[in-house]
Amino acid sequence: MHSHSVIIGAGGRLGGALHAACKREHSVTALQRRDLDLENQGSIQTVLEDLDYDTLWLTAALTDVDYCESHPGQTEAVNSEAAKLIARISAEKGARMIFFSTDYVFDGEKSDLYLEEDATRPLNVYGQSKRQAEEHVLAASDRHLVIRLSWLFGHNKAGFPEWVIKQAMQRDSLSIVADRQSCPTYTEDVITALSPLIQDKLEISGIMHLCNQGTCTWQEWAQHCLDCAGKHGIPLQTREVGSCLMSDIKSFAAQRPTFSAMSTARYESLSGQVMPNWKQAVDNYVHDHLAPDLTS
Ligand SMILES: NC(=O)c1ccc[n+]([C@@H]2O[C@H](COP(=O)([O-])OP(=O)(O)OC[C@H]3O[C@@H](n4cnc5c(N)ncnc54)[C@H](OP(=O)(O)O)[C@@H]3O)[C@@H](O)[C@H]2O)c1
Repeated sequence: MHSHSVIIGAGGRLGGALHAACKREHSVTALQRRDLDLENQGSIQTVLEDLDYDTLWLTAALTDVDYCESHPGQTEAVNSEAAKLIARISAEKGARMIFFSTDYVFDGEKSDLYLEEDATRPLNVYGQSKRQAEEHVLAASDRHLVIRLSWLFGHNKAGFPEWVIKQAMQRDSLSIVADRQSCPTYTEDVITALSPLIQDKLEISGIMHLCNQGTCTWQEWAQHCLDCAGKHGIPLQTREVGSCLMSDIKSFAAQRPTFSAMSTARYESLSGQVMPNWKQAVDNYVHDHLAPDLTS
């Protein structure tokens, strides 16, 4: 029998890439916000009740950490309570759930790469809602899986690389935060890493970290985006990224951990594969998806 999967969040950056990969392998029901509103528990129950599935991927969430900071009730409902209900319904159906979480569950006090078993202490509302969701998901079934990602970019929704490159196309100077460090992660590399799970060749449960290799600051990430943009012919007004401090950015309502880069050792030992370096990932993304649109 062929397996069937459900994706909640198929309109998002990761969900869109996951949908494209899943439908190459098996039948899939791809749900967007218009099909199912995570704020509405009745809607979740009604939609999932009618579906038979083996695997449910929950990629949808409120992901704007500053918006979350000023909307704690909505954030808890969408990011945590919805995940709890979906985890329970999936367990009752005998299906596994794969839930996506974040490096922002950590407080940034560690000086080495974070491991799955390290203590969590989120600093912002978004991170708290994701940590609560992790606990609910893991409590609902010992088959469920939590995958923590960091600093995600990819072509279904504009993010940091697009923003930085567009700023550098229009302005003659740019300063980016240099006192926050983690790892940029390309959706296409996440999907490649998840292929054995998508193809039902591997079942993993518990918590697993997944991000590109290497760490950098936002300023270093921005500089590399511009280096790649220049290399691939995107016309820039400025090629050098200056640095500033997180405390200089008054519009950031949410605190971010100083250092939240994660180790992917568990993924490597389970899969025998190594995640590509973040610099190569950014280069591939700029070359394949941004340069064709931004070069004249
Ligand atoms: N982005 C990052 O840097 C990052 C880092 C670490 C972990 N993660 C996690 O990785 C996962 C995927 O992130 P992403 O960047 O792909 O997210 P994304 O592009 O922002 O997509 C999130 C999706 O959730 C949907 N959504 C929001 N509220 C909803 C609601 N009430 N009901 C139904 N759908 C709703 C959004 O719909 P609309 O488009 O209609 O708003 C959007 O399609 C998330 O769980 C996120 O927490 C992200």
